[in-house]
Amino acid sequence: MVMPRSSKVYVAGHTGLVGSVITRKLKAGGYDHLVVRSHAELDLENQGAVERFFEKERPEYIFAAAAKVGGIHANNTYRAEFLYKNLQIQNNLIHFAWKYGAKKLLFLASNCVYPKESVQPLKEEYLLTGLLEPTNEPYAVAKIAGMKMCESYNRQYGANFISAIPANVYGPNDNYDSMNSHLVAALIAKFDHAVANKDKQVELWGTGKPLREVIYVDDLADACLFLMHSYDESAPINVGTGKDFSVREIAGMVGDVTGFQGDVTFDSSKPDGMYRKLLDVSRIHKLGWVHKTELNQGLQLAYDWFRKHVKSSGRTVT
Ligand SMILES: NC(=O)c1ccc[n+]([C@@H]2O[C@H](COP(=O)([O-])OP(=O)(O)OC[C@H]3O[C@@H](n4cnc5c(N)ncnc54)[C@H](OP(=O)(O)O)[C@@H]3O)[C@@H](O)[C@H]2O)c1
Repeated sequence: MVMPRSSKVYVAGHTGLVGSVITRKLKAGGYDHLVVRSHAELDLENQGAVERFFEKERPEYIFAAAAKVGGIHANNTYRAEFLYKNLQIQNNLIHFAWKYGAKKLLFLASNCVYPKESVQPLKEEYLLTGLLEPTNEPYAVAKIAGMKMCESYNRQYGANFISAIPANVYGPNDNYDSMNSHLVAALIAKFDHAVANKDKQVELWGTGKPLREVIYVDDLADACLFLMHSYDESAPINVGTGKDFSVREIAGMVGDVTGFQGDVTFDSSKPDGMYRKLLDVSRIHKLGWVHKTELNQGLQLAYDWFRKHVKSSGRTVT
């Protein structure tokens, strides 16, 4: 079922990394009936406020891209918040989307939903076959609940609610605050800072050995639109590049893009997180979607944006 251009579309989390690009692409595609609310205007944890919003606006298509999101440090430290806030946000979005007659909803899960010891690459059918990685277990449990809500509302009520499982995302508009950020954003901020300070060495968390698949945000947003138009199954679907790199390799590429010429060391007393989480993307490939942006291009685009928009100490922002 293709989403008609005249549809009323709500992007939850439209100011975020992913939501902002989905919104931009919808506007560029001629969707003129977009509904958005900032966090300050509508707290998605507030059940009453969310119900009033849905009752008034009755959006037909919903991109559920609002969540409490963070890197390994934030996930491990704010465990209660990651569980509570994400459950609240997604319960409200999914339940009231159904109650007020939405035609379709896309829920964004995360690759951390897969068991820690899974066979790789991760196929969708491996969900719920083993224990989760402890550092982000609360976040993963919330995301699993969100996917199960979509599936259950589909099976009980016939709601066309679908879930995507994206690889780690990076790109412009990411959170570049190093204590709360994801891998690529944290690396960009750290290496840029080191260049600005003429540091001879950059130390990174963990061993550098874990393998990570990362997807450029525009590619994920394209996939979200593709799935909204063409995917109607309640089973979750992976969205990634199907390629992974070691943290050491990614750090090397970020170092090159930022012009860092010193040494990179690893603090192996800090946690690595899951060793590998490579998505099996054969299902979405068979449907006709593949990513377009390779890692070296995406890192350059992300760093160009960072240089323009984020002030890094000691460095003139152009
Ligand atoms: N980034 C990744 O690597 C990654 C990987 C896999 C999956 N995902 C998933 O993709 C989705 C989008 O992630 P993202 O990286 O774009 O996250 P993000 O940049 O942190 O954006 C999250 C958005 O949600 C909003 N939000 C958070 N709590 C809210 C609340 N209580 N009420 C209203 N709005 C709220 C934020 O607004 P404020 O900023 O104003 O709070 C922001 O607009 C999430 O579901 C995430 O789990 C992300």
